[in-house]
Order: sequence, then structure tokens, then C-alpha cells
Amino acid sequence: MVSRLLSFGLQGIDAFPVTVEVDLSGGLPAFDIVGLPDPSVKESRERVRSALKNAGFRFPARRITVNLAPADIRKAGPVYDLAILLGLLVCNGDLAGSFSGMGIIGELSLLGEVRPVKGVLPMAIKARELGFRALIIPAANAPEVQCLDGLKLYPVGHLKEAVEILQNPEAAIPLQTIPFQPEKPQDFQVDFSDVKGQFIPRRAMEIAAAGGHNVLMVGPPGSGKSMLARRLPTILPPLSFEEALECSQIYSVAGMLKQDLCRSRPFRTPHHTATYVALCGGGQQLMPGELSMAHNGVLFLDEMPEFAPQVLDSMRAPLEDNEITIARATGSVTYPCNVMLVCAMNPCKCGYLGHPTRKCSCSPGEIARYRHRISGPLLDRIDLQVEVPAVTYEELSAKAPGEPSEPIRERVLAARARQAERYRSESITKNADLTSPMIKKYCPLSPDAEELLRQSFDKMNLSARGYHHILKVARTIADLAGSDGIETAHVAEALRYRAERENESKDALFTL
Ligand SMILES: Nc1ncnc2c1ncn2[C@@H]1O[C@H](COP(=O)(O)OP(=O)(O)OP(=O)(O)O)[C@@H](O)[C@H]1O
Ligand SMILES: [Mg+2]
Ligand SMILES: [Zn+2]
Repeated sequence: MVSRLLSFGLQGIDAFPVTVEVDLSGGLPAFDIVGLPDPSVKESRERVRSALKNAGFRFPARRITVNLAPADIRKAGPVYDLAILLGLLVCNGDLAGSFSGMGIIGELSLLGEVRPVKGVLPMAIKARELGFRALIIPAANAPEVQCLDGLKLYPVGHLKEAVEILQNPEAAIPLQTIPFQPEKPQDFQVDFSDVKGQFIPRRAMEIAAAGGHNVLMVGPPGSGKSMLARRLPTILPPLSFEEALECSQIYSVAGMLKQDLCRSRPFRTPHHTATYVALCGGGQQLMPGELSMAHNGVLFLDEMPEFAPQVLDSMRAPLEDNEITIARATGSVTYPCNVMLVCAMNPCKCGYLGHPTRKCSCSPGEIARYRHRISGPLLDRIDLQVEVPAVTYEELSAKAPGEPSEPIRERVLAARARQAERYRSESITKNADLTSPMIKKYCPLSPDAEELLRQSFDKMNLSARGYHHILKVARTIADLAGSDGIETAHVAEALRYRAERENESKDALFTL
């Protein structure tokens, strides 16, 4: 007799349906799993055997063959334990019922408890997409799927609960859906009012938040770069349900979803010792990297020149494509990574080059080496590059606090609303994601603005990418000003956030 139950596998953050076929036949007792299982799936046999016995069922002393279809995709992890066990019960005659449209996922303990697995959220989303009726999931994974509707979800803590649900589906009570609530602004621990002075860097953060642009801050130690970056989440728009699902799927696959869905925008701060795998993903236990964990949020690289140059450079393609593909012997996986990159660095190793009062102790060679750690092509991908000068005593001792986050956030939200309206027929939602053909369509310059940009192009030695970035930033500045067209003032302001970089000779770079 052959039983057939449905489960799910994972490829990157995409789930795919797996049919778990169990066959009992005569012959010497044996227990085989076929269908490209990796060693972690094969170990399932021991867990299933013990769990079955310890839960009081009979283990069949016959030849057991389990097939995981489709047989050409590699299966990993203990997620099929529960489906294999239930399939065995069906073959044994211990369980009867109709299981069509019912998915089953869960790892087993030797005592028959159902343990949490990775990737339940993408599996549930896939099940809903494929028109599944219901899904049995580990109880511990329930919080991550409780905002999903359109699918009955049955959390179980023990295999006996799963047996009861399958035997008597009418009596089973599915998980109650809870509507999604993004994090409230008042939940933030920090606020922009803490930052004194620094008007231009603050303005750059506002523009970056409004258009989703990448930012680089250059300045001496203690000028407030880390402080500014950490306050960026307080002025970003709240996470939408779709964005929350996207982020949460990545965390779910990584097994890092602690509670329910992500409610706030990711803000990731990898240490500068981060390796390629830590930043971009991969590794033996295929994991998304920091770039993907920051999807829909901010990736903050503090002390940027301390990162290994090759590691930084490996971000070039993903930053452009908004996704990262990791090639593996068993096929490649793609993780999304639409991030706002925020970088901070000192102007030189000692930090005081160009400081009004302190003297820089670096040699010209040291300064050049320090700067060469960040490649031109990577810098070229950063739309806004801003100097964060040392704060003066007057600014710091001023009684009046800086402008708080709330009004800034309101301006950002208004600018984002204009963008969402303009791009409603496109696949993008913000200016940073504009492609070259879209830039032509959506960034109309007034004749004067056009003339200014034409003159600057040669004078500043702009690259084609640099030119497009200026147009995107100018588009955002115009959106903040509530203007449909891009005027001279908008282009002029956009140019200033690029000026020092484009005026290359690499040595003139960052001269403050
Ligand atoms: N503009 C400012 N307004 C108020 N406090 C400030 C300002 N800038 C710096 N500070 C104070 O100095 C501390 C250090 O600032 P922060 O860590 O942001 O500096 P940094 O620019 O990141 O320096 P480093 O280059 O050493 O990383 C802050 O915690 C804050 O107390
Ligand atoms: Mg810092
Ligand atoms: Zn120096």
C-alpha cells in the first residue's frame, strides 16, 4: 500500500511542494528514503522510528520506501519528519481520512513532539498560492504565520494532535488570524532632535529617506555620523504588510524570526570583520547574508574602510540588481536585497584630515592607502556623499534641540506618496529604483536645469551612472518640494552631494 501526503521544501526563500510517498512492502525489514535527500533528511528515519514507538504506535517490521517527489530537486532538513510518520501510519492502517489539499510540515523529537522548522512562512505563502486548503505546522512556528489569511493553519505540538486533526478535520480549530500592525513611531528609542547642528548631513538623510538613496558620510571622529545613521529608521515610512512578508520570509528561512512578522524596517549593522558569506550569503548551511537581511531596510556599514576591500566590492552587482544570486553545486539560489546602503568613514586613518583645529598625523601614502580601500565603482553607486564636519561648541551647547523626527518623517511620507502615485503603473515605488528608460520618462528638467547639468557634466567629469544618480536625487529633492518638474535649484542641490567625488583625481577625493 502506498500513501501520499504533501509537504514543502525550500530553495533560497522560495518554497516548493513536495509529495511524500510512503510504500510498505514485503521482504526484509528496511527503511529507505529516496528523492535526492541530503544526510539531514536521511536521519529522519531514526526520529520517525523512535517517535512512532514512543507515541504508542506499532512500527511496521516490513520494507519501507519513502519517495520525496520531485526527485530532481535536493531536499534538506528535518521538515519532512512529520509527513513521513503520518504516511507510515496511513500505510499501517492506523490513520484514515482524506488528505487532499492538506500540507504537513514539522520536525519530530524522539518522544513525538513536533519541533519548529525553518521557512514556515514561505511554505505557508506557497501553500496559499497553490490553493491548499490547510497546513499543519509546528506550534512554535505559529506566530510567524498568524497574519496570513486564506489558508487554515493548524499548529501542533505533538504528533498525536496532527493525527487527531487528520482523523477529524471538522472538529479541529485553525489558528486565528491577527491583522498586521507595523511598529509605531513612538516605539523608537532615539530621535533626530538629539542631533545638534549638522544641517547639511541632516538634510542629506532626509533626501536619502525620501527617495531610498544610498548615503556616504565622511567626517572626523565624534562628529555624529553613527548617531545620524541610527536615527534614519525614525524617519522612514512604516513597513507595509507586503514588505513585512518579504522581510520575514528571509528571516524565516534563516531561522531568525524570533517572534511574529518583522514589524520595523530592518537596520543591519555588520561588523567590519564580516566575511563575504556573512555579507552576501551562502555557506555550508545556505543562509542569506546581511545584504538580504537588510532587504526593505537599511544596511549600515560603519567605519567602511575597515571592511575587506574584496568584501565591499562583492556588493557592487547586488546593489545594482537588488538581488543576489549564490551559485552552488546543487543549483543557484537568489535572495532579494533592495537596501538603502548607509556608510560612514573618517577622512583619513587618524580621522582629522581637514579638521579646523586638530592636525592630521597621516602621511600622504597612508591617506592614499586608506582611500583606496573603497573602490571607485562602489563609490559610484552611492548617490549622496556628504561631509559631516566637527560640531562647534556653539552648536553643541545650544539649548534648542534639533528638529525632531516627526516633521521630517511627514515630509518623507509626502514625498514617498508622490512617488508611489507617479510609479503606480511601474514595478518600482521609489526614486532610487528608477531605471535609465524610466529616468528619461519621469525626470523632466526645466531648460535652465538642463543647462546647469550640461555644464556640470563636463566640469565635474561625471560618469553616465553619476549623471543618472544626480537626476534621481534631483527627482527626490523636487518631490520633497512638492514640484512635478525638476528645477535648477533641485539639480544644484543634487550636484552638491556628489561634487567632491566627481572632481576626481582620486587624491582630491574626500578633501574636506
Ligand atoms: N551633532 C551632534 N549633536 C549632539 N551630540 C553629538 C553630535 N555629534 C556627536 N555627538 C555626541 O558624540 C557622540 C559620538 O558621536 P558618533 O558616535 O555619532 O560619532 P561618529 O561620527 O560616528 O564618530 P567615529 O568616526 O569615531 O565613529 C554621540 O554619542 C553624541 O553624544
Ligand atoms: Mg561612528
Ligand atoms: Zn589623518
